[in-house]
Amino acid sequence: MKYAIALIPGDGIGPEVVGPAMEALDAVGDIYGHVFNYVELEAGGNAIDTAGEPLPENTLEAARECDALLLGAVGGPKWDALPGHLRPERALLGLRAGLRVFANLRPAVLLPQLRRACPLKDEVLIKSNPEGKPQFDVLIVRELTGGLYFGEQGRSNDNKLAFDTETYAWEEIERVLRTGYAAAAVRRKKLCVVDKANVLESSRLWREVAAAVSEDYPSVETSYMYVDNCAMQLIRSPGQFDVIVTSNLFGDILSDEASVLTGSIGMLPSASLGSPQDMLAKDGHPMGMYEPIHGSAPDLAGKDIANPLGTILSAAMMLRYSFGLEQEAAAIEAGVNAVLDAGFRTQDIAQSNDGSEGEKILGTKAMGKAVLHALEGKEFL
Ligand code: IPM
Ligand code: MG
Repeated sequence: MKYAIALIPGDGIGPEVVGPAMEALDAVGDIYGHVFNYVELEAGGNAIDTAGEPLPENTLEAARECDALLLGAVGGPKWDALPGHLRPERALLGLRAGLRVFANLRPAVLLPQLRRACPLKDEVLIKSNPEGKPQFDVLIVRELTGGLYFGEQGRSNDNKLAFDTETYAWEEIERVLRTGYAAAAVRRKKLCVVDKANVLESSRLWREVAAAVSEDYPSVETSYMYVDNCAMQLIRSPGQFDVIVTSNLFGDILSDEASVLTGSIGMLPSASLGSPQDMLAKDGHPMGMYEPIHGSAPDLAGKDIANPLGTILSAAMMLRYSFGLEQEAAAIEAGVNAVLDAGFRTQDIAQSNDGSEGEKILGTKAMGKAVLHALEGKEFL
């Protein structure tokens, strides 16, 4: 099969991490007989520089024509002083809304090889894990095209007052909850709605919708938690969670927190999915946008030290969710696992910088090559 992939390397470390992910996709394509055609597009800071706006219309149009989108990261200090509507981050919001990808899947898994990079004590991990292992596997499903990020905002005439609004319609909550329930049904069958229903009216609506939608998923156990408590529980006892479904802002915050528990924010992939019924869906699969959850990390850019694994794992999610290529996705994940098993680390997931723990510290390119070699069944490096 042939697939068209829109590629937005973006700013900062974006291009450095997208390169290895493309190589991994191509290697998988060679092995399993698929062709991936890349359509490189500009968005973010680089688009501001060349086109004068963070998300040129032709970028969104071209992305819509593709089967899926792989994005590195956008943003950087160079564009920080621009007004809100011209900041690079607007490109992300515009792509998410324009592609109607309302459900953002952010899996936070503690791999056994990275146990020592997780800041939690063994006893904390073990106590909360149903099997008594120092591990956790949480899927955060973040609502991505509504809430505070897209509500009415503004300033008073004298600029001394500013406001942002949290607005959620029943349908917006329902569709992201259904994505969460579908995921929970094939995982450990637990879904926790995270909100601030003791204060916010929109959160109370989330609970009403969840109560209604949960009726359709009797095999899944539904629970509710306030977001402040959830921030604490993730650190106290991450093993208690299976699937968390939450609003745009709360999901943004909790996923950064969860990422640190996995060893590094550089490890976390994400998939942003729309509805299979949507007119943008191709071949029954929803349009998907795939990106690591880390940002453009300008301080790491150009040094060949960024961790490409979050982006490589995002490419695996693309194969799984947009193309239905489960075996191929699993092959990439197995490749990443094998490389970690062999002791290869980028510096963010290493325990020490001198290799004293039996680890071999690799740069971005070398880590990408190690995954490639694992995929192709070759000796490492
Ligand atoms: C993320 C990022 C973005 C967000 C920023 C860069 C706009 O933090 O994807 O989590 O807040 O959604
Ligand atoms: Mg974030």
